[in-house]
Amino acid sequence: MLTFVHISDTHIAPDDRVSTPYTQAKSLAGAHALVTAINALPLHIDCVIHTGDVAYDPEEAFYDDAREVFAALRMPIYYIAGNHDDRTALQTTLMRRDDLQLYPHYELDLQGVQAVFVDSNAPAALPAGYVSEDQLEWLNAICTSDDPRPLLIAVHHNVVPCGVPWLDSWMRMENGDVFHSIVRQARDRLCGVFHGHIHQSMDVLRDGVRYSAAASSWCQFMGYPTPENTDVLPDSLAQPGFSVVHVSADGTTTIRRHVFSV
Ligand SMILES: [Fe+2]
Repeated sequence: MLTFVHISDTHIAPDDRVSTPYTQAKSLAGAHALVTAINALPLHIDCVIHTGDVAYDPEEAFYDDAREVFAALRMPIYYIAGNHDDRTALQTTLMRRDDLQLYPHYELDLQGVQAVFVDSNAPAALPAGYVSEDQLEWLNAICTSDDPRPLLIAVHHNVVPCGVPWLDSWMRMENGDVFHSIVRQARDRLCGVFHGHIHQSMDVLRDGVRYSAAASSWCQFMGYPTPENTDVLPDSLAQPGFSVVHVSADGTTTIRRHVFSV
């Protein structure tokens, strides 16, 4: 029914402007390698969904680089903003929107699958996220409708606790419990909530709702449920990657993890 690639946290910037204690990896090179790997997949891909932090930091010029990188994709790409994104530049340069939203959110029909893109950048103690009351109301109407289509939700921030101290204490969506109580109403037709932000490939299942995070194309962070994992630490054993998601007509959802070298 629908096959899409889930990517996240490309953090694109011109190479010489990236400076971080986390990694020596160059995000622009990683993004180019990501596009090459997706284009080389030996199956038809309907689209790519990018769950945010497209740019390294919210600098308008970085979106010209991002546009150049993703123009090489052989399929359409849809975006949701991350906490590092400039939401205006994302909408004008990448999404080609004229009707700008403060918190860009939207809904699409992708091959008969209802795809809902939720912004999680309402005011919060960064880098945590928050979904506005207006969007929660919109999301609740979708999740309580009698729409028969399989449903997928894309959002930037991690929603539910996963037992990893730094992810649960300061990275998570602050009103994630409310968000979860809304989306679980649609769990019978919900393929998954696809997110990024945590820079690692990880799934969490709660109340029948699958939360699936894609790896970054730049650098991966540690995500172990140990009391010591309280800070952002690079995971040197993890490779950059992406997920290939296949949704069947009956809602059966398969997620394949891919890695690549830069
Ligand atoms: Fe983020």
